[in-house]
Amino acid sequence: MKTRLIAVGLLAAFATGMAVAANKETSSTSEAEKAFRSSFRSDNPGYWMKRLDQDETMALCSKYKNVPPKNVKLKIERDQMATIRYPIEGKLIGDWREGEKLASSGKGGHIGFIQPDPPGTARGGNCYACHQMSPKEVAYGTIGPSLKHFAKTRGSSEEIVKYVYDKVYNSNAFTACTNMPRIGYNNWLTPEQITHIVAYVLDPESPVNQE
Ligand code: HEC
Repeated sequence: MKTRLIAVGLLAAFATGMAVAANKETSSTSEAEKAFRSSFRSDNPGYWMKRLDQDETMALCSKYKNVPPKNVKLKIERDQMATIRYPIEGKLIGDWREGEKLASSGKGGHIGFIQPDPPGTARGGNCYACHQMSPKEVAYGTIGPSLKHFAKTRGSSEEIVKYVYDKVYNSNAFTACTNMPRIGYNNWLTPEQITHIVAYVLDPESPVNQE
């Protein structure tokens, strides 16, 4: 009986300890959030600040430090999958030449007082910031996997075409807390522009699938 009481007491102490730790974390998180927000100059154009607001998906990924429990992960992926929109004509493969321009450009989203992109600057998909694509292009980031010879290794069946379109439109539909931006979901590129990027990844003529 005594042992059990001690065990219960220990458990309670442990649980209280966890609650205190959790509270500490919440308050330092909100302090960090405040410090981050106040680091932006107050005369910045208001739309910069809007980019700091998290939607439900981002808030959940922050809460679970990008490793949500399985039910949360599945919920995020299901909800994000339901956001995907297709071009009116329904054709998911466009022109790889247009796709190449979009994939290679990181323009359109820069903020900051020294060299911000003026509003209306044509936007790029910035794929090379994170992915190897054409073997001829030597400047690329490695946050994402290499997409070199993607059609050669994965094929270009209807499923693969749809997968690449969907992935670019809303990456979180496949990996709840991915580092890849939601390019269609955030209206960064239009569905038509995404079809050009799909062609760049999958067209056998595209440099991505050449030597
Ligand atoms: C900020 C980095 C980042 C950018 C920018 C980015 N991606 Fe990704 N991408 C990733 C990461 C990380 C993964 C792997 C994790 C995942 O699946 O979400 C990935 C996965 C993918 C996959 C799935 C690969 C596979 O083997 O199934 C495709 C296709 C893809 N990206 C295409 C693109 C294209 C096309 C662009 C440009 C429009 C792009 N990505 C922009 C980070 C990025």
